[in-house]
Amino acid sequence: MEKPIVIAIDGTSASGKSTNAKRVAQALGYIYVDTGAMYRTLAWYCLTHGINVQDAKAVTRACRRWKTELRCVDGQVRLLVDGYYPEREIRTAEVSMAVPHVAAVPAVRRWMRRKQRECIRFGNLVMEGRDIGTNVFPETEFKYYLDANLEERHRRRAAEGVQENLAARDQQDSQRAVAPLMIPLGARVINNSQLSPEQTSAIILEDIRKRLAARATQTSDACQPPTE
Ligand code: DC
Repeated sequence: MEKPIVIAIDGTSASGKSTNAKRVAQALGYIYVDTGAMYRTLAWYCLTHGINVQDAKAVTRACRRWKTELRCVDGQVRLLVDGYYPEREIRTAEVSMAVPHVAAVPAVRRWMRRKQRECIRFGNLVMEGRDIGTNVFPETEFKYYLDANLEERHRRRAAEGVQENLAARDQQDSQRAVAPLMIPLGARVINNSQLSPEQTSAIILEDIRKRLAARATQTSDACQPPTE
């Protein structure tokens, strides 16, 4: 059986990762994985269990102990805790403030990487995050890095009703010691400050389809009987 394909979409906060990853997944019929939601789920779990998110040892213990399950529902992977999917709870301002702390804990990142790699059992994936092309699936040839200028990203967050210090968030994400946010080697970088989601996802899809076609040609060449 052919190995599932992984499309890695990384980038800064509010650079359009979720919107575009969902569009690409839908267009290709691939499974969508939001890895930020997985980190948010652990932050939420710590907050609701009285665990200090700034205490790396306590967070590590929580991550070893919590009972989770990966489930694929309507083309999206969900991380359930004790059988529950905290879809709304992980989007609060409190969780947004807590999540960079848990995401900086080395044992948490190892746990997340392992779980995220497990998602391949659901089939071809479009996975979005901060370290997918660099750390989770560095072997994939389908790597995209999205960015937009700070003003535009603030405008997008404000349109969602969220006030967030994106510069501080970028700094936390890029300066942590383990798996910091950076442009993966070989990634196609797309600055979409002036682009709509339709235009951005069209660029990604065109690139993916070209690569898939090139792969198919290579495979069929390899299957040709040798000529005299
Ligand atoms: O994309 P988001 O805002 O939902 O991500 C939440 C947090 O998780 C953010 O601080 C970055 C972190 N994160 C990460 O470190 N690695 C990932 N692969 C995804 C998210």
